[in-house]
Amino acid sequence: MPTSPGTRPAPRRLRERLLDWSGPARRDLPWRHTRDPWAVLVSELMLQQTQVVRVVPRYEAFLERFPTPSACARAPVGEVVRAWEGLGYNRRAVSLHRAAQAVVDEHEGTLPDDLDALLALPGIGPYTARAVLAFAFERDHGVVDTNAARFLARAVAGERLTPAVAQDLADEQVPLGHGWDWNQAVLDLGATVCIKRRPRCDVCPIATECAWSRGGFADPDPAEASAGVSAPQATFAGSDRQGRGRLVQALRTGPVAVTRVADVAGWPEEPERARRTADALVGEGLAEYVDGQLALPS
Ligand code: ADE
Repeated sequence: MPTSPGTRPAPRRLRERLLDWSGPARRDLPWRHTRDPWAVLVSELMLQQTQVVRVVPRYEAFLERFPTPSACARAPVGEVVRAWEGLGYNRRAVSLHRAAQAVVDEHEGTLPDDLDALLALPGIGPYTARAVLAFAFERDHGVVDTNAARFLARAVAGERLTPAVAQDLADEQVPLGHGWDWNQAVLDLGATVCIKRRPRCDVCPIATECAWSRGGFADPDPAEASAGVSAPQATFAGSDRQGRGRLVQALRTGPVAVTRVADVAGWPEEPERARRTADALVGEGLAEYVDGQLALPS
């Protein structure tokens, strides 16, 4: 692992300062009141591409409807897509349903507390598997989402990281026995202080320990293009994603005749594009063709 002597933070002080800050600064979020691995999985999948404020009400409603993996697995996938309303990136609903089915089929309805077993579930990647371990089972794994990735590149390394190094650093940083509070603190810091543009270093609890700061904020920002840091999102208006979203939203209220798909997608002049998009939804398990109509899968 590359190191830059003099700019690496003193790990113990950094950890102590961040943990001291995290108690009072911790955001009170509903998924932080549970250690139920299913609830944690639901929250983490929702949070992957959707803002916290939009997730809060959906998370609670979803768990009321599907309180366990078995309840989710038993339901038609279309019902799960319906409950995903307002969150966007609807493919995640299909992934969650598939994961629930695998949990029922292979783990007697209870999420496993083992990294390899979690990674073997459909739709569960390195971030989500470790988030379940840290936030449900309080294990000392480091989670690397886009917020944590910025913290690692800037504060810990002071340089752009590869995925393997970012994960190793994240794991190394977790203070023994503090997997839960440490990771929540890192996510809070990344979301509220070590933000993407104009980080709020004036109020940062680890400003004096931060490798980037100690190196004089050298250009470029180490978080730029570092592993796990999300790239800027493509413009939504006019995108395929917008048409997909419109179609799935319409399907939530009922089937759409194939002849109306282009209109409903918002592309009346582009029937080919609409057809391709509908086909893609079917291919991904988000929709099905029934009697000349496009519908949510039953
Ligand atoms: N984003 C991903 N996981 C999160 C969590 N547990 N709390 C807040 N934001 C998050």
